[in-house]
Amino acid sequence: MEKIKLGGSSLEASRIVLGCMRIADMEDRALAKHINRAIELGINLFDHADIYGDGECERKFSKVLTSEVNREDILLQSKCGIRHAVDSNRKEDQYYDLSKDYILDSVDGILARLGTDYLDLLMLHRPDALMEPGEIAEAFDRLHDSGKVRHFGLSNFHTTQFDFVQKHTDHKLVTNQVQFGVGAPHMINSRMQANTPFEGAGDRDGGLLEHSRLNDVTLQAWSPFHYGYFEGIIMDDPKYRALNDVLEDIGNSHGLTKNAVAVAWILRHPSNMQTIIGTTNTSRLEDIAKAGNVTLSREEWYRIYKAAGHMLP
Ligand SMILES: NC(=O)c1ccc[n+]([C@@H]2O[C@H](COP(=O)([O-])OP(=O)(O)OC[C@H]3O[C@@H](n4cnc5c(N)ncnc54)[C@H](OP(=O)(O)O)[C@@H]3O)[C@@H](O)[C@H]2O)c1
Repeated sequence: MEKIKLGGSSLEASRIVLGCMRIADMEDRALAKHINRAIELGINLFDHADIYGDGECERKFSKVLTSEVNREDILLQSKCGIRHAVDSNRKEDQYYDLSKDYILDSVDGILARLGTDYLDLLMLHRPDALMEPGEIAEAFDRLHDSGKVRHFGLSNFHTTQFDFVQKHTDHKLVTNQVQFGVGAPHMINSRMQANTPFEGAGDRDGGLLEHSRLNDVTLQAWSPFHYGYFEGIIMDDPKYRALNDVLEDIGNSHGLTKNAVAVAWILRHPSNMQTIIGTTNTSRLEDIAKAGNVTLSREEWYRIYKAAGHMLP
């Protein structure tokens, strides 16, 4: 599997990343097998967040880390900044907190749950309307100087928010983790329909694709098979019949499943983004990993884009 240096740093990570948001209910043995197989397939980066399974995903992962995997052989990233009101884990009671103290405490919790001394990459999960970039910068300095975090990035940040935080810290922000896939290609739509009266022309992110290339920031695409905001997945959904037909047709010509073609579509974009897949099914993981061996043609790429219902003016 191809590896890239994240955001121009020394961090060399696979184009396909295994997301660990859904592993809380996996049986220990199955999870160990899943992670080991991912490593065999060339995946060396694993994505976490302190809120996944209320910390249970990081705890589960640590069991595999202590018993089966050499920490130095993999890269671990996690996120913080989404918290709950005291004594609640209800989604309605969530709010965002990127204060210095909360970031520092969160990282201690993440390291304890994962059973490791350091994170290769810490990301701030979502922009906090009340954030003070000077405080974030202080937290990053403390975490880096103490050896707890080696690199930093952001997640779900608009380009101007990204630049705002970057201006206040000397640590190069290497990643921005954002939703992207053929079912949710807002970043592409706004570019393809620029300066038209069509709905897709609405600029939701400030030009993340160009921003990432101009500033050497690696985009990480989360939930690659979803459409809408966790509305469902494109695979076999009747609303996406035409897309499924095209994914299958192109998949047949390359020996790929529909999932793998959808990932190859993301990897084909010249911004060199990573794809964070969240499957808990090891055979699906094996199929998807094959996406890394295929480069879609321009014609195939646009055929998939249009079959998903996105128009070209
Ligand atoms: N930064 C953020 O705000 C943010 C937000 C969300 C997610 N993430 C990260 O992104 C990762 C991936 O997110 P995700 O899990 O939502 O992405 P995903 O890979 O698009 O979706 C995975 C889900 O889709 C199911 N699925 C995939 N293909 C299928 C098929 N052909 N038939 C039936 N079911 C299928 C999987 O089931 P199986 O398990 O059976 O394969 C799994 O439940 C997460 O683990 C997390 O690390 C980040």
